[in-house]
Amino acid sequence: MSIYIDPAVANSLRGFEMPERLGFGTVMAPVMFRAVCQDGCWSSGELVPYAPLALDPAAKVLHYAQSCFEGMKAYRTRNSGVNLFRPERNAARMAHSAERLCMPPVPEALFMDGVRTVAAYCANLVPANSGESLYLRPFLIGTQADLTVSASTSYEFYVIASPSEAYHAGHMRLWVEREDSRAAVGGTGDAKVGGNYAASLLSISRLRARGYDQSLWLNPGNRHTVDELSGMNFFAVMEGELHTPKLNGSILEGVTRDSLIDLAEAQGYTVHERDIDIDDLLALVRSGTCSEAFACGTAAIISPISVLGDGEVQYELTQVPGPVSEHLRQALLDIQEGRAEDPFGWMQAVAPIEV
Ligand SMILES: Cc1ncc(COP(=O)(O)O)c(C=O)c1O
Repeated sequence: MSIYIDPAVANSLRGFEMPERLGFGTVMAPVMFRAVCQDGCWSSGELVPYAPLALDPAAKVLHYAQSCFEGMKAYRTRNSGVNLFRPERNAARMAHSAERLCMPPVPEALFMDGVRTVAAYCANLVPANSGESLYLRPFLIGTQADLTVSASTSYEFYVIASPSEAYHAGHMRLWVEREDSRAAVGGTGDAKVGGNYAASLLSISRLRARGYDQSLWLNPGNRHTVDELSGMNFFAVMEGELHTPKLNGSILEGVTRDSLIDLAEAQGYTVHERDIDIDDLLALVRSGTCSEAFACGTAAIISPISVLGDGEVQYELTQVPGPVSEHLRQALLDIQEGRAEDPFGWMQAVAPIEV
């Protein structure tokens, strides 16, 4: 389908001044992609100036949380091109999230139109230093103004973008969350929906008061195997081998997790996708068998974990950052930023469009 480019886009882009400090996800690019869906029929997309949305106060998204999103990056490559990393994985995950919330999935071609158009028009806004990127945030919301609890008949899909510095989560201190759950059995844990993040915030505010950075969520069904963090997947390194919780319906299937498994195996590491009992894990950290642990996700790629806190007891990892996580982080970033071969065919070039 053809994409309408609002004539005001050129002025928005020309008038945009890149601030000196970018932070992560706080500076917004001056354009956005938009498409609407009415009674199951999608419009073609349009690129328009970035602006507040006009939503009816009775819109379903505001009351019943019909909202899902994606997080992905456009990278500047060595030859000053722009690359997307496995965008079809984000399209597929967003379709899964939408279906879980009884929303019409954004067709893959429309999703790709959205991320490729925003990346192409914002090519000059993709920062150039290693680790920096244009963070892309596609999202879908139910907009029908109607307070009955039922699926919306109208939806809006947007892609907004944020030129961002490297995301440094630092060495993370994780709190083993034994009280709350971020996801429910049979719930929405494996979908990227707003409600999951809302459900994680209270735990994070409690643990921050105790000097920790993030919750380590346990499986809501058995309460004793490790699931993930609020916005990243979990890996432990034991005697040079990688262990990560196997997908179970309450873990979000991270694109970084999946890519690291393939990359690690190609580099000769053994990777175990399995149930990881939290008490076994803590004992292995205490004995030094588990020397290294890290969290992974699009924003930070890999963040080393320094401490697992369980009640009053702290279990310290001995290698922070450890050699395996350092190695894998660099290997993945080298592919994303075009310094290394891409044997997996993960990168997709986007031709910049000048206005
Ligand atoms: C709950 C959760 N788990 C894991 C991840 C990591 O996913 P990805 O590697 O696709 O960014 C994210 C981030 O999207 C997340 O929100």
